[in-house]
Amino acid sequence: MIRLGVNIDHVATLRQARYQGVTGVVREPDPVWAANEVELAGAHGITVHLREDRRHIDDLDVRLLRQTIRTRLNLELADTPAIVAFAEKIKPDEVCLVPEKRQELTTEGGLDVVHASHSTLPATVARLRRAGIAVSLFIDADPNQVRAAAGIGAEFIELHTGRYANTQTDGDRAAEIKKLAAAATLAHKLGLRVNAGHGLNYRNTAGILALPHLETLNIGHSIITRSLFVGLQQSVRDLLAILTLGPEPIPPESNHEPPEPTRTNRGPRLRTLGGRRLSQRSEAYSLAESGT
Ligand code: PXP
Repeated sequence: MIRLGVNIDHVATLRQARYQGVTGVVREPDPVWAANEVELAGAHGITVHLREDRRHIDDLDVRLLRQTIRTRLNLELADTPAIVAFAEKIKPDEVCLVPEKRQELTTEGGLDVVHASHSTLPATVARLRRAGIAVSLFIDADPNQVRAAAGIGAEFIELHTGRYANTQTDGDRAAEIKKLAAAATLAHKLGLRVNAGHGLNYRNTAGILALPHLETLNIGHSIITRSLFVGLQQSVRDLLAILTLGPEPIPPESNHEPPEPTRTNRGPRLRTLGGRRLSQRSEAYSLAESGT
């Protein structure tokens, strides 16, 4: 089964909405508690992004998570000296190097590894690997980026699934899956291990499970938002059930527009998770298929 890493940054986002810069009081919600719930629900790892501006997860969170989690800690970070030094000291099981811009709401695109030969990226990969940390590079499904990632000695790539997640038609979706599958195949051939993530949710994750050589999906926003209504353990279990059910057939690669809603396709179709028909309205809506 493909493994699930749960990105809990948004638990800290909610905390910072009230407690940014406040110390000496109990600050809720606590990402360490969240990680515990995620692990109890059966997820395979915890992912956090320590951003330069510390807008959600902070250094103390990472230290406490390192001491308390029982699965794998995957630390996302930009290639900046202070954060790389911090990772070297904390020793997460895995780091995922990502591009980072201050103005972005979330990581917008993959790393440009092709043009990184004059940057510190190759040295950073070597340095983190020397510290015994598995190194992953977050890249777009571009064969040149895959070759460059292998060239600088990464162990993993994480394929950026944001474009796939934003597709509107079956044709576009199939084209994105084709690109992701080609990138995964090439990566495997070059000795890289393959993860994927970004923008995945309860509707579109099944469509990505047919990718070859996929090991772990890192999913955050959709799991944390769903947890507001069903609780964190349940939202993780619902996602795990999708992984257990396995791949959906890949849609044909034609570029037709989504059909106009009709009487028969307008309502959400219910899915069954692990033999359990979803009955609650909120679950029904998050798991509704598009009707196409
Ligand atoms: N993988 C990487 C490298 C990311 O930067 C993010 C977002 O922090 C995710 C996965 C999770 O994305 P989402 O929150 O959209 O599920």
